Amino acid sequence: MIEVSKGIYWVGAIDWEIRDFHGYATPKGTTYNAYLIVDEKVALVDTVKEPFRDELLSRVGEIVDPAKIDYVIVNHLERDHFGSFAQVMDVAKNAKVYASGRGKKGIEEVYGERWDVTAVKTGDTLGLGKRTLRFVETPMLHWPDSMFTYVEPDRVLISSDAFGQHVAGSQRFDREADPHALMEDAKTYYANILMPFGTLIQGLLAKVPSLNLAPEIIAPDHGLIWTKPGTIIDAYGRWSKFEARDKVVIAYDTMWESTGKMAHLIARGAIDGGVEVKLFHLRKSPYSEAVTEIQDAKAFIIGSPTLNNGLFPTVGGFLYYLKGLKPKHKIATAFGSYGWMGGAVKEIVARLKEMELELAEPALDLRYPVTKQQEQECIEFGRKIAKQVKEAKQ
Ligand SMILES: Cc1cc2nc3c(=O)[nH]c(=O)nc-3n(C[C@H](O)[C@H](O)[C@H](O)COP(=O)(O)O)c2cc1C
Ligand SMILES: [Fe+2]
Ligand SMILES: [Fe+2]
Repeated sequence: MIEVSKGIYWVGAIDWEIRDFHGYATPKGTTYNAYLIVDEKVALVDTVKEPFRDELLSRVGEIVDPAKIDYVIVNHLERDHFGSFAQVMDVAKNAKVYASGRGKKGIEEVYGERWDVTAVKTGDTLGLGKRTLRFVETPMLHWPDSMFTYVEPDRVLISSDAFGQHVAGSQRFDREADPHALMEDAKTYYANILMPFGTLIQGLLAKVPSLNLAPEIIAPDHGLIWTKPGTIIDAYGRWSKFEARDKVVIAYDTMWESTGKMAHLIARGAIDGGVEVKLFHLRKSPYSEAVTEIQDAKAFIIGSPTLNNGLFPTVGGFLYYLKGLKPKHKIATAFGSYGWMGGAVKEIVARLKEMELELAEPALDLRYPVTKQQEQECIEFGRKIAKQVKEAKQ
């Protein structure tokens, strides 16, 4: 039995084996966190992914009879937290449901008016006895129906998907983890899930005082619970502003190693130029790893050979994935090798323009295997980007 704070329990499930979370690599697995608040009334906040419903119900059963749950709070309707909702409601026969307005609509679209669902707005409360739940709508963080549930007077913020990390393990709290690894996991999660919502996150962080939120504990729906919430709130402040380091990320693919050779020479030049470099072969590393490094890099460079007049497919896929995450305030450019008419580098540059990034010109577009003279050009290209990075303000 895991107590988050007196009378507030973690009743989630550990998914040790998941390695792909809707396309995002999860080498460490994940958890689906759900929370049970036991007072004069009993409230369950969120459920778990459908195959884990028995684990949830048995954890609840260690504390109270699940049939005695009075309220089920749905912070958002994604399947990893909502997948076993109907089965939980079959057991918690008398439970009333609370969700945001869009959440209520979503539940009724799927199940009709099978349950008593109350739509709540920011500031609405639900008394449990000594404790009160206060709801905060967080639309588009990261779904239209998303909201937070704040438990008073315990000052526990159940933050849905915000502040999470995909990591399975025996630890439940930040204090049990290696702090560096924990922040890396939180950054990977932020980059791949929350990067597009930086402006909304800035807005929410600015509103925290007026919302009367002063959490002592932040309990997200994935990974470890923050007992020192300042650490992750500060990090979200930095990440949502795209605060970046003197770092260049090189992501590429290659058929016959010409583009590969260029990638390594460009890396060498950038290292000579005095910046940190991360390099990813896009068929050997998941997109999510490269994206995580781009999150706090001042520059990234994408490389592709020309295949049938266009991009190598992994590079096309990566650019598409990255575009959806809306990276901002980055220097970007392209390189690649071609045999006759080319096309890949032009295509990368076009995609980068669509992302409204600052383009470091010109891109490096070379024909066939790299000659000695072109090797020098690649090294020089890397040096130039490094110089631009070091001169960039942010
Ligand atoms: C299946 C295939 C299709 C190709 N299509 C084109 C093309 O449409 N236009 C072009 O300029 N080069 C084309 N090439 C040539 C490659 O772009 C060239 O060999 C390049 O140097 C490969 O770079 P890499 O070693 O990084 O794979 C093609 C090569 C292969 C193997
Ligand atoms: Fe989600
Ligand atoms: Fe989630």
